[in-house]
Amino acid sequence: MQKTDYSLLCRQMAALLSGVENEISNLANASALLWQALPDINWAGFYLMRNGQLELGPFQGKPACTVIAMGKGVCGTAAEKREALWVPNVHAFPGHIACDCASNAEVVIPLHRNGEIYGVMDIDSPTPGGFSQEDFQGLQAVAAEVERGLFPY
Ligand code: SME
Repeated sequence: MQKTDYSLLCRQMAALLSGVENEISNLANASALLWQALPDINWAGFYLMRNGQLELGPFQGKPACTVIAMGKGVCGTAAEKREALWVPNVHAFPGHIACDCASNAEVVIPLHRNGEIYGVMDIDSPTPGGFSQEDFQGLQAVAAEVERGLFPY
C-alpha cells in the first residue's frame, strides 16, 4: 500500500480550512480531503459533541449511525478518555459499533475547543491492520490542523 505524505496533507488541510468561519463547511472539506488523500479507507468524518453525546457530522463513506453515547464504541471511548485510539482490528475492540461492515481497522482522534471535547475525527480502513504507527501519528498531526483550522485562536 502506498504511503501517505502526512506533511503534505497537513499543509493541504491548513490551506483548505484557513479563512473559513463556517465550521460545517470546514468539516465537510476536511472529510473530503481525507477521503481523497488516504489510499485505503472506507469512511472518514466527524462526530460532534451535542447534548452530551456524539452526533454525526460531515463525513465521506456509507451512511453511519447518527448518535454515539460517551464511552460507547471506539468513538465514544476516545471522547470519554480524551485519548487518540488506534484499533488495528475493530472486531477485537469491546463494544465496537459497526456502521459499515467493510471496516476492519479504525483510528479515532478527539478534537478540542478551549480545553473542552468538541468531537472526534474517525477514519475506518477495510484492511485489517490498515493503519500503521506512522499513519496513527500522521493522522494526529492532521487532526491538530483541523482543530487549528476550526478554532484559529
Ligand atoms: N466504529 C465506530 C462507529 C462509527 S463508524 O465507524 C463511522 C465506533 O465504534 O465508535
